[in-house]
Amino acid sequence: MRAYRLQHWIVVGVCLAVPALVGIGVAAGAGGQTAAEPGLTAGEVFDNVQVLQDMPVDDFLASMGLMCASLGWDCANCHVNAGTRDVDWAADPPTKIMARRMVRMVDAINRDHFGGRQVVSCFTCHHSRDRPLLTPTMEHAYGAPPLYSDDLFAGVPGAPAPETILDKYIEALGGAQRVDALTSYSATATSVGFGGFGGGGSVRIWAQAPDKRSTVIAFPDAQGRDNSARTYDGSAGWINTPLSVLGEYALSGTELDGARFDAMVAFPGQLGEVLSVLRVGYPDYIDGRPVEVVQGSGPRGLVVTLYFDQETGLLTRYIRYGRSPIGRLPTQVDYADYREVDGVMIPHQWTFSWLDGRDSFEITNIELNVPIDESVFGRPSQIDAIP
Ligand code: HEC
Ligand code: HEC
Repeated sequence: MRAYRLQHWIVVGVCLAVPALVGIGVAAGAGGQTAAEPGLTAGEVFDNVQVLQDMPVDDFLASMGLMCASLGWDCANCHVNAGTRDVDWAADPPTKIMARRMVRMVDAINRDHFGGRQVVSCFTCHHSRDRPLLTPTMEHAYGAPPLYSDDLFAGVPGAPAPETILDKYIEALGGAQRVDALTSYSATATSVGFGGFGGGGSVRIWAQAPDKRSTVIAFPDAQGRDNSARTYDGSAGWINTPLSVLGEYALSGTELDGARFDAMVAFPGQLGEVLSVLRVGYPDYIDGRPVEVVQGSGPRGLVVTLYFDQETGLLTRYIRYGRSPIGRLPTQVDYADYREVDGVMIPHQWTFSWLDGRDSFEITNIELNVPIDESVFGRPSQIDAIP
């Protein structure tokens, strides 16, 4: 533990009286600070972070998910007793030491060979394997090319202007007038987590134009603080994932820009404002349906790719990418079951996938343009209106 942290921080391992823990250990500062306060780096919150110490905590945790996804591993492959009460995140088993060395290597490759542009990430070599492949197979040489689309677009010659695709989307939703008249909504939904985990959650969603949004999932046997939540109040944002490393934490990295985007996309008239430098990609397919693809950039390196159904014009997916030293951090939202509510098409099903989990939602009731109490967009542990 470094000296300055001894002055400001005591990292307390807290045992929660809940079975099947994903992880335990809540950071609580001696000065009353916790990870729920914005602006803290991984080096300030954790004990043994040697290379990624300057990352905001939110992006740091996402980059742990990125390591898992890149190697096809889970936390327990690099962290002693992860998934049990006895987890020791700070310990350094051989795989974790190797991963740390790889972070330095990736940085060196990009710096020394690509002028500091981030073109090589963990995934570039690993492709969801712990040992990267050395040799192409004959199936690769003679078979269909692998099914990966470009993730950053340079633009496609002769493609339609991105604005025409966005305009078609607004038309499909019900037209600019109706879309602009939408200023808030309040919804209830049900949720199912990845692999059935966290199943049967009851959900509240609130959104207020231009940029406030809150999603709170209450699990059947949890109460109050144990709700899972993502909130954004127009400038600050929080995530609360019960049974995770930090519990409730404030966003300050690129995840904060992502939360802002999630909030603004609920009021689609402003898509062209929140994203600049729009470019069109090659048409693609989602579930066998042709889609048109538009990519744009937001503040601080945020990149978002939007997929519109070619026939209906409706948004079927977006992927937003945050930044990290080891590669971009994807979060994906898939929309389905659009239905008309007061003249506006609203998706009644969606799946939110990030590197730390996946939840599928189904709206059971939604009301548009209703007054919403500001407090629901603040810190999750202080929200009273639990579903
Ligand atoms: C491929 C190996 C690898 C995987 C998989 C992995 N981590 Fe890590 N983790 C690391 C490395 C390396 C560090 C130290 C980074 C540094 O020194 O900058 C670290 C540090 C941490 C820390 C800080 C611990 C401390 O007290 O210093 C936490 C918390 C953490 N990881 C959580 C997770 C979680 C949660 C997962 C699963 C979602 C995960 N990690 C998956 C390699 C991994
Ligand atoms: C330039 C290619 C390349 C990149 C980029 C790369 N790795 Fe690796 N990695 C390898 C190779 C090759 C091996 C196998 C080494 C061996 O077998 O001795 C490996 C092995 C590993 C191992 C040990 C696996 C095991 O089975 O014990 C870990 C952990 C690992 N890499 C993590 C990472 C992480 C995390 C990143 C991103 C920060 C990363 N690697 C980026 C090439 C790469």
